[in-house]
Amino acid sequence: MIELGVNIDHVATLRQARRTYEPDPIQAAAEAEAGGADGITIHLREDRRHIQDDDVRRLRDTVKTKLNLELSLSAEILTIAAQVKPEQATLVPENRQEITTEGGLDLTENVARIQAAVSQLSEAGIFLSAFIDPDPEQVESAAALGFGAIELHTGTYANATGDQVAQELERLTAAGAIARKLGLRLHAGHGLNYVNTLPVAAITDMAELNIGHAIVSRAVFTGLRQAVADMVALIRK
Ligand code: PXP
Repeated sequence: MIELGVNIDHVATLRQARRTYEPDPIQAAAEAEAGGADGITIHLREDRRHIQDDDVRRLRDTVKTKLNLELSLSAEILTIAAQVKPEQATLVPENRQEITTEGGLDLTENVARIQAAVSQLSEAGIFLSAFIDPDPEQVESAAALGFGAIELHTGTYANATGDQVAQELERLTAAGAIARKLGLRLHAGHGLNYVNTLPVAAITDMAELNIGHAIVSRAVFTGLRQAVADMVALIRK
């Protein structure tokens, strides 16, 4: 059954807007789990713009489903991940100027650094996913580097219009087929919402979707538990 990872970074963004204690991402994680989330996803960024080190540690103690930590290749963040030991880590690119993650990690560049990160996190017993563009070469590199999963970047699909939508869906489907052949678990995320998620959820063997902005946005009006329940119902259709 397809799993939903709820990205709660935006809850921390709201808290950091006032540098206060609310809303608390720990409470958000509990509400998301009550709504049916299969996992909680957070990104500990180098600039700490939303999730803080203490959040990661508190979530490690309180998340009952699965904690998925997104992180860059920063040595400092890799050390924290290896200490905290989330069930899953997703390697992502990071650029300080970006509003959100802008593209997939290029697994054909910085290969030695990526290989070292894979070894460090695998030795800590963490299941590893790579956030990549739906490009056959990237999928093959993920398998060669020893990742257990890939998360296909769905941002281009989400921003597509007209005929482009079907083309982008085809790229995602084709990349998914290669992942399946190589024995990689298939995840997807970025820019998915209540309108565009169903075709991605329907890709053969899609195992996990990581969704943040759309769910937290709906939560402003419905509450987080309901917003998560709505997305769970949609992807299990
Ligand atoms: N997956 C990854 C790797 C991401 O970096 C993000 C954004 O933080 C998401 C999923 C969720 O994207 P969105 O907030 O657009 O749903």
